[in-house]
Amino acid sequence: MKTIIEPFKIKSVEPIKFTTKEERKKILAEAGYNPFLINAENVIIDLLTDSGTSAMSAKQWSGIMDGDESYAGSKSFFKFESAVKNITGHKFIIPTHQGRAAEKILFTIVGGKGKFIPNNTHFDTTRANVEFTGAEAIDLLNEQGKHPEIKADFKGNMDVEALENFIKKTGKDNIPLVMITVTNNSGGGQPVSMQNIKDVKAICNKYGIPLFIDACRFAENAYFIKKREKGYKDKSILEIAQEMFSYADGATMSAKKDALVNIGGFLSLNNEELATKCRNLLIVTEGFPTYGGLAGRDLEAVAIGLEEILDENYLQYRIRSTEYLGEKITAAGVPIIEPPGGHAIYIDAKRFLPNVPPHQFPGQSITCELYLEGGIRAVEIGSVMFGKYDEDGNVISPPMELVRMAIPRRVYTQSHIDYVAEVVIEVYKNRNKLGGYKFTYEAPMLRHFTARFEPVSNTE
Ligand code: F0G
Repeated sequence: MKTIIEPFKIKSVEPIKFTTKEERKKILAEAGYNPFLINAENVIIDLLTDSGTSAMSAKQWSGIMDGDESYAGSKSFFKFESAVKNITGHKFIIPTHQGRAAEKILFTIVGGKGKFIPNNTHFDTTRANVEFTGAEAIDLLNEQGKHPEIKADFKGNMDVEALENFIKKTGKDNIPLVMITVTNNSGGGQPVSMQNIKDVKAICNKYGIPLFIDACRFAENAYFIKKREKGYKDKSILEIAQEMFSYADGATMSAKKDALVNIGGFLSLNNEELATKCRNLLIVTEGFPTYGGLAGRDLEAVAIGLEEILDENYLQYRIRSTEYLGEKITAAGVPIIEPPGGHAIYIDAKRFLPNVPPHQFPGQSITCELYLEGGIRAVEIGSVMFGKYDEDGNVISPPMELVRMAIPRRVYTQSHIDYVAEVVIEVYKNRNKLGGYKFTYEAPMLRHFTARFEPVSNTE
């Protein structure tokens, strides 16, 4: 087997500014030890997110020039609508400026106090949009998915039995919809099997509850199904995606991931009454229903990106490059969520730094060190992002403490990834020198974006 190479040539480049370790020490302290607050130009390799960071193709850039900026009925909207319909098969396609705008509209209408939304695992903005309405966001991940060291094919699956028990206990009238996130971002970028989507749909049908897909990384999920699930090896990515969406009554999508664009999203629905309500709210919050917070050129780029993402050569390279980083660092003993997911490698901070307790944020500590050591920006997904307080002010931690290194699409080459592996391994070798952190500022919601920290001294 020959090396799987990047299936593109580079036509336009952006220089990387190099910094020294001494400079980074100062930059990190000024940013309150929160990589979100570091200026991007001071980052060497930016693995903060795979969202909105894709390199667009020459075809997408030419689509940008071709965008129709008419306020109503723009021809770019119809291209966008047809690209989304081709994949989802859904009847009503509502553009939004990004994923969370679709979530905000949907949950404002179906959510509210006393309502519950089950999901395999909510991502932070989805959870926040559910909770903002007064509803509760319930995660029902299968057991394997909760154990980073277990290697299994579909660790993103929902626990179907737990879902049925939850519906029986809560009452179907209090559950406006069930959601499945593909791939499961907060749980390691792990895929969900077609069988699981079908099983969840069967339970939803039994109780008359609609099923929605959070579709950010649907093509990566479809590729995993093709490679790992019986019966799909000869199907195209488009066919697999179409089947996934055929079980869903609607979807939200951040096009900033698998539509290979820098901004965009949509809400797709089959229910006309719900679509009408969503469109009416869209007009208040996003814009007219044929642009929904986007420029015509953005709609054009999404339509083209949704075609390009279905290319199997691209997906093979994409999934392999993530796996390649995972293999290199695990060979040196670095604990990660196994097997590597689609868009990111998730370091298991609990096993990496067993001496730093969750309330001192081991993931934050590793994230800071990756920046200091090599100018790499990653993100904590653990007690900083999802921690809560009990009535006595003690931290309630989520089940996992992770550091996500998300890989932007079509941006970095193999030698960039080799460099990342070297830095991670160096930090791992020096792990005994790392300590914990504490907040000096935290916002009441989505605190990880703006929080400030300081290192905890050994005596605290
Ligand atoms: N759902 C999932 C599964 C996501 O990963 C994201 C964004 C969203 C919804 C919201 O989309 O950002 O366009 O509003 N995830 C990014 C990330 C931010 O870094 O994983 P958005």
